[in-house]
Amino acid sequence: MNKEELKKWVSVQPKVELHLHIEGSLEPELMMELAKKHSVELPYQSIAEVREAYDFQDLQSFLELYYLGASVLIDEDDFYHLMWRYLCHCKTDNVVHAEIMFDPQTHTERGIDFSVFMAGFNRAMNQAKQEWGQSCLLIMSFLRHLSEESAIETLKAATPYLPNITAVGLDSSEMGNPPEKFTEVFKMAKALGLKRVAHAGEEGPPAYIWGALKTLDVHRIDHGVRSIEDPVLIEFLVDSQHPLTVCPLSNTKLKVFEHMQQHNILKLLDLGLLVTVNADDPSYFGGYLNDNYHALIDHLPINKEQLLVLLKNGFNASFLPEEDIKSWLLKLDIPE
Ligand code: ADE
Ligand code: ZN
Repeated sequence: MNKEELKKWVSVQPKVELHLHIEGSLEPELMMELAKKHSVELPYQSIAEVREAYDFQDLQSFLELYYLGASVLIDEDDFYHLMWRYLCHCKTDNVVHAEIMFDPQTHTERGIDFSVFMAGFNRAMNQAKQEWGQSCLLIMSFLRHLSEESAIETLKAATPYLPNITAVGLDSSEMGNPPEKFTEVFKMAKALGLKRVAHAGEEGPPAYIWGALKTLDVHRIDHGVRSIEDPVLIEFLVDSQHPLTVCPLSNTKLKVFEHMQQHNILKLLDLGLLVTVNADDPSYFGGYLNDNYHALIDHLPINKEQLLVLLKNGFNASFLPEEDIKSWLLKLDIPE
């Protein structure tokens, strides 16, 4: 298959999304619409200006615009529309199952309660399930630039909503905020029966990946591309098969890699790590899940077998029940 054929083929395969921040799927059109609705002042005059601002130097320069964008999300309908639009992208991209992160503190810190965003999210998720059988679940992420006390407060405030939350996560500014800062809250989450994931090794060193694995007892590492710097860690990850949720377009947009040709995803795959492909913050990084696969096909010497492994890894790394994983794996390799 040539590159164009590979892109068509991968587009129609059933896929899983494991690393997606719902606030990072806020497209400039909805952002401007909601800013007008709620009279929120943004430093942009047009949708084109919003897109022009998306020229990031690193994670922090992105996060500043990401939190600014999220400030337009105020009432239940806003959160419904945000989730609904993302789930419609799932349908277009054949993302048959999505494990979606949300950042409660981005909203509670602005006085917006769990009852507001959870109602909006659940309404959209139920509708997508009813209309086309969309499968999805929620991961509640703590902001690591805030204190552990704030994360504990957030976990407590989430109590009535825990039946609708599968896992906890850890995101925001990585450097200077090691996983160990959140030892207690992850212990509490584990005791409540919640699964655990954490961003680590995006900008931070391999020691942060070790911290997430050993101290937070995570099921998956979000990003983890810097694991390549530590041979003992690579050996551990090959052995344990802890998945890495890799986000190619995010990594180039935030300059973790200067160019997609330098991305190490194929190296990690060749070494035997359980790597998956994900979109992270699609509105800010220039693409949804199919776009991420297409970028790999455009810029790396990736073949169909490797793409199939990445697709299978997505299912195997998910929190879906074993029987669902098995039946999805049987459906892979649909002709284009
Ligand atoms: N929050 C949203 N996207 C993020 C990323 N890529 N890294 C850390 N925190 C985030
Ligand atoms: Zn992320």
